Amino acid sequence: MPSHFALICAFALAYTVPLATYAAASCKTVDLRQEWRTLSDDIKADWLAGVKCLASLRHHRLSLTSQGTELPGLHSLYDDFAYTHDALDETAHENAYFLPWHRWFVHLFEESLRQKCGYSGPIPYWDWTLDADDLFASPIFDPDLHHGLGQDGDCVSSDCTIRDGALSRQFTLAFPVPHMLRRNMSLGDPPRTASLNGAHIANVSQSSTPGDFFTFQYHMSRAHNHLHNFVGGDMATRCPKEVPEDLCTHSYASNDPLFWLHHAQLDRLWSKWQSAHPENLHAFAGYPLHSHNLSNPLYDVNASVGHWMHYDRLSVPIAVAQVFNHTAAPLCYDYAAGPNE
Ligand SMILES: *[C@@H]1O[C@H](CO)[C@@H](O)[C@H](O)[C@H]1NC(C)=O
Ligand SMILES: *[C@@H]1O[C@H](CO)[C@@H](O)[C@H](O)[C@H]1NC(C)=O
Ligand SMILES: *[C@@H]1O[C@H](CO)[C@@H](O)[C@H](O)[C@H]1NC(C)=O
Ligand SMILES: *[C@@H]1O[C@H](CO)[C@@H](O)[C@H](O)[C@H]1NC(C)=O
Ligand SMILES: *[C@@H]1O[C@H](CO)[C@@H](O)[C@H](O)[C@H]1NC(C)=O
Repeated sequence: MPSHFALICAFALAYTVPLATYAAASCKTVDLRQEWRTLSDDIKADWLAGVKCLASLRHHRLSLTSQGTELPGLHSLYDDFAYTHDALDETAHENAYFLPWHRWFVHLFEESLRQKCGYSGPIPYWDWTLDADDLFASPIFDPDLHHGLGQDGDCVSSDCTIRDGALSRQFTLAFPVPHMLRRNMSLGDPPRTASLNGAHIANVSQSSTPGDFFTFQYHMSRAHNHLHNFVGGDMATRCPKEVPEDLCTHSYASNDPLFWLHHAQLDRLWSKWQSAHPENLHAFAGYPLHSHNLSNPLYDVNASVGHWMHYDRLSVPIAVAQVFNHTAAPLCYDYAAGPNE
């Protein structure tokens, strides 16, 4: 496809991560991702400092348009992920590309943390099945100002802005308007968090028909939505109060760093499912789960492993087949056993 190749070359200079990264034929090392609660306080603090470092590096961001016009004002390297997530929202959710797209998106974030902010430790995931019985009491919501991700926001007097944890200081977000991190935790009415339960997840993973990626991914997508909605605020893309409800249509959930831990967990569950049966590693299929804007040229109703997934200015497009084996280049990571494994 010469036209597609030309497009890649034309944009190559604008991407954040060097193209050489993708050319690597084999892994130099295979990084082990670890469950958040198994990390030492020092490593947690380092990871949070890395996140805050990305949020402090500001630049003029180019839009997704082919002209690459500059968005007004300064945005951080951290904000870039929220803009990208929003721009590619429809191509990456509620369809066949959900897990593959996010696998590469989380990888890009890791690369950024390592290359721009010198983070060298393990990438954490949050195994929320360990906390599903009482999500509010999860140790992930730790108020410590150095190594904690913080607790619920204050919805009574400060529009759900978080009050504690390392992210309550020196961590500002640009999208959709400049604000501090917000959370508004709620189980929903009726509670919609049964999809996060460990027995349910184990059943979904073990009882599924080999190779039935569609059904497995459907359950992952539901658990995904429910956890986002439980955390609320930025994680659920609920806008700050200055944005009128009818203009609050964007998708910037990666504003909350919990996003990375949550998606690493979904990725890990996919990884476990992939290795549970020989037919699962390359299993891929699916029509959209819900109707979409089919006039969007980036959206492909006929799912294919050769489909190029787009990442705005963060990366060259990546084909689904390139992300199936995460212990191989260019991904080069694996998962350490969790606390109960
Ligand atoms: C917080 O969440 C609750 C329950 O979903 C909702 O009723 C309330 O309006 C939210 N508060 C804010 C300020 O968004
Ligand atoms: C486990 O999954 C099977 C097949 O999807 C379903 O029929 C069964 O009800 C599930 N069991 C539990 C305990 O969730
Ligand atoms: C659908 O996507 C196209 C291309 O991105 C866009 O121009 C159009 O406004 C979108 N339509 C709706 C209803 O969102
Ligand atoms: C999807 O594939 C089917 C069967 O090959 C074809 O009939 C249909 O036109 C395709 N749809 C799109 C939007 O490409
Ligand atoms: C994934 O890639 C690694 C590194 O190339 C290889 O050793 C391993 O066998 C692959 N896994 C599968 C299931 O093919």
